[in-house]
Amino acid sequence: MLNSVAIIGATGAVGTEFLNVLERKNIKIDQLFLVASSRSAGNEVQTYMGKLKVIDIEHFDFSKAQISFFSAGGSVSKKWAPIAANAGSIVIDNTSVFRMDNDKPLMCPEVNGTPTVAPIIANPNCSTIQIVKALAPIHNLFGLKKVVVSTYQSVSGAGNAGVDELHFQLLNDRSKSSIFSESIAHNVIPQIDRMLDSGSTFEEEKVRNESRKILGLPDLDVVCTAVRVPVFRGHSAAITVETEHPINTSLLYSTYKELNHLEVSSTTFHTPRGIYNPALTYISRIRQNPDNDKSLSLWVVADNLWVGAALNGVLIAEQILEGA
Ligand code: A2P
Repeated sequence: MLNSVAIIGATGAVGTEFLNVLERKNIKIDQLFLVASSRSAGNEVQTYMGKLKVIDIEHFDFSKAQISFFSAGGSVSKKWAPIAANAGSIVIDNTSVFRMDNDKPLMCPEVNGTPTVAPIIANPNCSTIQIVKALAPIHNLFGLKKVVVSTYQSVSGAGNAGVDELHFQLLNDRSKSSIFSESIAHNVIPQIDRMLDSGSTFEEEKVRNESRKILGLPDLDVVCTAVRVPVFRGHSAAITVETEHPINTSLLYSTYKELNHLEVSSTTFHTPRGIYNPALTYISRIRQNPDNDKSLSLWVVADNLWVGAALNGVLIAEQILEGA
């Protein structure tokens, strides 16, 4: 039971899924506030709590919300999350703004789930969440030394505008790009978020730094190549690890099998189109490196808007309220 919840960015790709997660989990809420910009303020949205009007963030009183889920972009979080927290609302922020702050927990409840109540709690990057869910059992069993990961990230990771751009390019004009740096239709783009001076992208840095923070391994060697692919929904990751100790793949398989947030297969592989339950992280193609018994590769698929965003946010809220 939650007293009152505000979804900031309620009309967006992740905001909409916050509503769906709350509904699917049948979470009873006394008061639900849908908050966005003046562009959509006043619009009516049909929810499981009835029809609700979108509220302009400039006119929203955050003291009314026990929990505020922020998913309206970094600049909105930077300005409004501290205001919400000062008003007494617990902020669960889905942007990258606070994730690496020492005083802000970065939570993936199934991995580093100690309930920590803080005014602002950060929800990790979408790819990072599914990657650490696969890595944590490997670390617990064999000790992680090095991680090399390539991601295949869907356009919904760039919000509704990313989805619209792929639709438009597939149906109309492939030459017009504004959200992605090149045409995404019939293409793959090895750039997500901005390029850094180091030669990596900010998305790749997020995967590296956030994985280290969540796993509590500040010196873990993590190399990431993050790639945007013309898939509407669902991120994939090809991961290769090196470990301290020799790997026993059957032990890893049976450990994954026991975790009810994972679906693991030894006989087939998963694809984003095949996600039948957006709450699960799908692990397949687990194989030992033939030349090194301390190295293993695997394939991880998950719904970026649920596992990678809204579901994780709601799990954080449930966990901190349970522990409060
Ligand atoms: P709006 O519908 O008013 O533009 P997405 O992640 O799909 O791109 O969605 C972004 C979400 O963030 C939308 O709900 C959008 O609302 C909201 N948003 C964008 N800019 C602001 C802002 N300045 N203040 C409040 N909400 C914003």
